[in-house]
Amino acid sequence: MAGEKKEYYVEGIPVPETPGPGESLPPWGKTRVLGSRRPRVDAYERVSGTAVYPSDIVLPGMLYGAVLRSPHANALVKSVDTRKAAGMPGVRAIITGSTPGADLPWTYRGGGGVASKLFDPHCRYEGDAVAAVAADSRDEAWDAVRAIEVQYDVLPYVADMEAALRKGAPRVHEEGNEAKTESYERGSVQEGFARADAVLTETYRTECELHTPLELHGCVARWDGDALNIWESTQGVYSVQSQVAETLGLPLSKVRVIGHYMGGGFGSKLWPGKYTIIAALLAKKTARPVKLFLSREETYLSVGNRPPALMTLKAGVKRDGTLTALEFTATGTGGAYLSGGISLLDWLVRDLYTCPNVRTRATDVYINAGPARPFRAPGHPQCSWALEQMMDSLAEAIGMDPVELRLKNIPTVSQAKEKPYSTTGLRACIEQGARAFGWKEARERSRSQGGGHLRRGAGMAAALWFAGDGGPPSTVVVKLFSDGSVNLNMGASDIGTGTKTVMAMVVSEELGIRPELIQIENADTGTTQYATPSGGSKTVPTEAPAVRRAAVRVKRQLLEMASEDLGVPAGDLRLEGDEIFSPGDGARRVKLTGISRLKKRGVVVGVGYRGPNPADKVINPFSAQFCEVEVNTRTGEVRILRFVGANESGRVMDALTFGSQVIGGITMGIGLGMTEMRVLDEARTGKLCNGNWHDYKLPTALDVPADIQPVPIDMPDPEANPAGAKGLGEPVTIPTAAAIAGAVHDATGVRPTGTPMTPVLLAELLARKTEKG
Ligand code: MOS
Repeated sequence: MAGEKKEYYVEGIPVPETPGPGESLPPWGKTRVLGSRRPRVDAYERVSGTAVYPSDIVLPGMLYGAVLRSPHANALVKSVDTRKAAGMPGVRAIITGSTPGADLPWTYRGGGGVASKLFDPHCRYEGDAVAAVAADSRDEAWDAVRAIEVQYDVLPYVADMEAALRKGAPRVHEEGNEAKTESYERGSVQEGFARADAVLTETYRTECELHTPLELHGCVARWDGDALNIWESTQGVYSVQSQVAETLGLPLSKVRVIGHYMGGGFGSKLWPGKYTIIAALLAKKTARPVKLFLSREETYLSVGNRPPALMTLKAGVKRDGTLTALEFTATGTGGAYLSGGISLLDWLVRDLYTCPNVRTRATDVYINAGPARPFRAPGHPQCSWALEQMMDSLAEAIGMDPVELRLKNIPTVSQAKEKPYSTTGLRACIEQGARAFGWKEARERSRSQGGGHLRRGAGMAAALWFAGDGGPPSTVVVKLFSDGSVNLNMGASDIGTGTKTVMAMVVSEELGIRPELIQIENADTGTTQYATPSGGSKTVPTEAPAVRRAAVRVKRQLLEMASEDLGVPAGDLRLEGDEIFSPGDGARRVKLTGISRLKKRGVVVGVGYRGPNPADKVINPFSAQFCEVEVNTRTGEVRILRFVGANESGRVMDALTFGSQVIGGITMGIGLGMTEMRVLDEARTGKLCNGNWHDYKLPTALDVPADIQPVPIDMPDPEANPAGAKGLGEPVTIPTAAAIAGAVHDATGVRPTGTPMTPVLLAELLARKTEKG
């Protein structure tokens, strides 16, 4: 075909020969694989226990690390005496803040702000690291930790964010406890409130939730000469690599991070922990591999939380349902360091509903407690708790159905980002969710039930997630072997959300090969390509386009090779299954395994990059949830009977995994709404009272209804990216707690303004209502 202009077509549209990183691909037409229900490609490994998670790693000669942590909420470390511990059986190394090489700076990502140290001589929260031990066994390491003698200068503490702002409160940092304030304004709320027919003000509170991924936080570190290898339970191997290299002053090429499997992160494993650096230092000192995984109790103290939020919302609405003004004032806390204590806390007020006049102000306060971390949709479920309950109250005030009020205020542009949405399925989520749930009928039933003590109610809440668009950079390599099987090489972690499965489906869609023939290599900085951490509901929209491009480039080469064998221009050939043929001349066909040049070359490689997002559009996913509860008005107990979760995240990639995300998000939202809260001993010690799985109440199977119905809204977004997909993992948890609160109100007439909705809290609200008559 020499000299001939080569063109390659997808769905009849030409694709440029030498595309740049952002090469455009036309949207898929009818798909064969995407959109179907596919079980996880690694399901067998995961459920059979043969998948090797970082916490499963055992290396020859491996030592175990353990960390000594401050038992005080606020204390200065006066002296650390390691002599006794050093002489104990099995002890190989002890490091403290004064060990040469261990005096390192440490930054709590997610907020910037004040500097701290790996072993900070000022421990500003219970559980901050003071020293660490490596020993032959875990028990010996822990015995030695307990034998280290530390003299602390115990300081006054503050464990509550409102108390921290009072005059005379103990100062967490020299400069005071007000860490930072963020504000936003558009229009004039004064004018908006003046035009309203109803103006309501209410104060809401959500409690702090502690990160509880099933796999604990930790790693195994091993040095090969001057190169460091780390097996870490992480959402992003490249993110761990860069912070470790920076902290230890190593070239990136000398830090290899591997995390093939990981048991959940939810935002708490986007970056390395102090444990990562400590393991590396202990491994260096002992010239042995060191395994350092935290206990559950240690993770509850130190790896992060969804910060508590205290929120006052004033809202104005006209009789016809037009929102005229929203004013939101909030306080949050990232604990003892700037770590995202008010991150995105006002976002839904800014952007979920059409409203010309909005003012928000959020203050991040220091207290003596462990750091905040991103936690599945930072800020959004908290804001939803306030905004969505307020929407219900406004609807009640003007005598309008809550669904109708929301439908009246659906924006087509992002008012906060001042650009139109590429697509918005908010209306579809609300309408189709309401239909699937039987909203009108359920609300009717609440109106007409008798006077018994078991009362049913229905509630709903809508949401958007401020990101979920994904974006560059990402590099992916697809390698096709001469037998037609494929290796997919990408840096991204599958954090339990089905990333590997979805990407195998993308390759399968493009190359027509069965997903079982695709071997995935991922999450290893030594052998796989660059990827940003899996978080922000961006993994599918980031990686799927890069995977698709890589597969298309493989396909293009196959067609060109086959064109030589068949004497038909590549542009006239089709790849289907394991064959390439000319639709115009059925006799001209060749099996992949028969392509001459492929046989000679052995493999064909396609590299795909993630191109930029459109500059003039906002790409967000949307959500609406509906819930029915039964409240026992004598005991305050709430039984959640059923949930419907409608989500629009662009294209539905794997319908099975889509539904699993909805169920998981609702489960987590039930935790926020019903059971979870960090309890600090504010009065006497500042210490964490419920830092274990017995006292910290995660929702169990008894708290989560069997009847959760996902309603996928399949709206491939042609402008978002060549996969048409937006993020899903976070929008599925944003409206849950608020929807339950709406249902509780519908059932009982009381409005629980604080989480969690425990029987004690509800019984108290119900008793107060009865007193008032
Ligand atoms: Mo997520 S909270 O970005 O892992």
